[in-house]
Amino acid sequence: MAEMTAVGVVGLGTMGAGIVEVFARAGVPVVASEIDGTALERGRAHLVGSTDRAVSRGRLSPEDRDALIGRVRFVVGLSDLADVDLVVEAVPERLDLKRLVFGELSKICKPSAVLASNTSSLSVTEIAVTTDRPDRVIGLHFFNPAPVMKLVEIVRTVVTAPSVVADAQALCARLNKVGVTIGDRAGFVANALLFGYLNQAVTMLESGFVTRDDLDAAMKLGAGLPMGPLTLLDLIGLDVGLEVLDTMYDRGGRNQRHAAAPLIRQMVTAGLLGRKTGRGFYTYGTPAPSPEAPADGGTDVVLVTDEPVIAAAMASDRPEDVVGLHVHRDAVAEVVRSVLTGDAAVAAARAVCAERGLVPVVCGDRSGRVVNALLFPYLNDAVKMLEASYATVEDIDHAMTLGCGYPAGPFEQLDAIGPGVVLDGLRAMYEETREPGLAPAPLLSQLVTAGRGFRSESLR
Ligand SMILES: NC(=O)c1ccc[n+]([C@@H]2O[C@H](COP(=O)([O-])OP(=O)(O)OC[C@H]3O[C@@H](n4cnc5c(N)ncnc54)[C@H](O)[C@@H]3O)[C@@H](O)[C@H]2O)c1
Repeated sequence: MAEMTAVGVVGLGTMGAGIVEVFARAGVPVVASEIDGTALERGRAHLVGSTDRAVSRGRLSPEDRDALIGRVRFVVGLSDLADVDLVVEAVPERLDLKRLVFGELSKICKPSAVLASNTSSLSVTEIAVTTDRPDRVIGLHFFNPAPVMKLVEIVRTVVTAPSVVADAQALCARLNKVGVTIGDRAGFVANALLFGYLNQAVTMLESGFVTRDDLDAAMKLGAGLPMGPLTLLDLIGLDVGLEVLDTMYDRGGRNQRHAAAPLIRQMVTAGLLGRKTGRGFYTYGTPAPSPEAPADGGTDVVLVTDEPVIAAAMASDRPEDVVGLHVHRDAVAEVVRSVLTGDAAVAAARAVCAERGLVPVVCGDRSGRVVNALLFPYLNDAVKMLEASYATVEDIDHAMTLGCGYPAGPFEQLDAIGPGVVLDGLRAMYEETREPGLAPAPLLSQLVTAGRGFRSESLR
């Protein structure tokens, strides 16, 4: 594999077509395989469309585009993969299907060929043992869109040969990707962290704690993420999300944070899969949701910041006029209503936000409200991952910035917010809910006690 004269890619869907482009851009000849002629043409069109767009944006010359496409040989079936040095499999996320494909590849490919899976959550070990060469099977988890996202999770199993891992790392460098090498754990780094957060967001919506639009606005504007969690799930596809969550729950020690919210399962059953079916949490191709209700402006609002709102309300003589207001990034204000807050007070608080150029996010009276309630458990999950020695601080940060497009990795965020602030927030949430997933990681408490940040030299 070190010389890499040719690679094979099996399955030319969303990921496979992008992976073909990554190799061909790097000058590597590719044998691109699909299950039948129709799917093959779809895969070819995907590659042509993507490279044409790159030309129209001035990122690729027409000559380079032609040379790139000229490096790809499109084939039906696996028999043309006999001479390649590496195969990357990107067929749908089903263990039985992947095992079948790897069993076939092991018969067809030369003994020295490395067989790689692009699986998001399945066990690479279970796939490897169906072959005649488990030591030459590895996970190469590219991110969507593969030509753009810099990260590749290199998944080594307990039997993967060290030389194969080293070759995969060298390959990533050649492809101009950042390779993060990790063990075979459900969801690897990025999905294990991302899907716990997405699932919690759906649970929050399902409980009526906050509306769909407010929830997405809170995380996009208040936490600075590229998009809100419900928009992202619609983009990923709820069926894919459910598959990944179920696999992680089963393989990952039945962690409650990965137990799919009932709403996701119901929406999948109803065919509301997101963008690809035209409807998920949002409906596509229809006008934007109706604007916020206008404020009546007739109420004097008592504003309290950073307390449990009901306690402040009870201390006042007008509990119905008390709301909490918590501003994030000068962009979003969480308007917290207690069980006693009146509609007029909420409407007036919205008006105050609008006057100050803040997007109001109305939510119930719980610790962490929306932004911190979703952000802090995700940060805690990252600390638990570090504590388990699954990946380094740098690798986990890379996974979220280069794989998921987050503006900062969890440890960068932890140090910026302050580990003590996150610890206190988690403790409050845990006290309120007693949910085991919210119990602060011991390593977080230790760092706070030691007065240290996560990105100090000794933790790298
Ligand atoms: N979609 C994502 O955002 C994403 C991101 C990272 C990893 N992944 C993983 O990549 C893999 C592929 O996902 P996708 O989203 O590209 O799926 P997809 O459904 O878009 O594409 C899968 C392709 O595989 C083809 N196929 C099925 N059986 C085949 C066979 N026997 N031989 C050759 N081709 C066959 C199908 O015709 C289809 O074109 C999955 O394991 C998924 O978990 C997906």
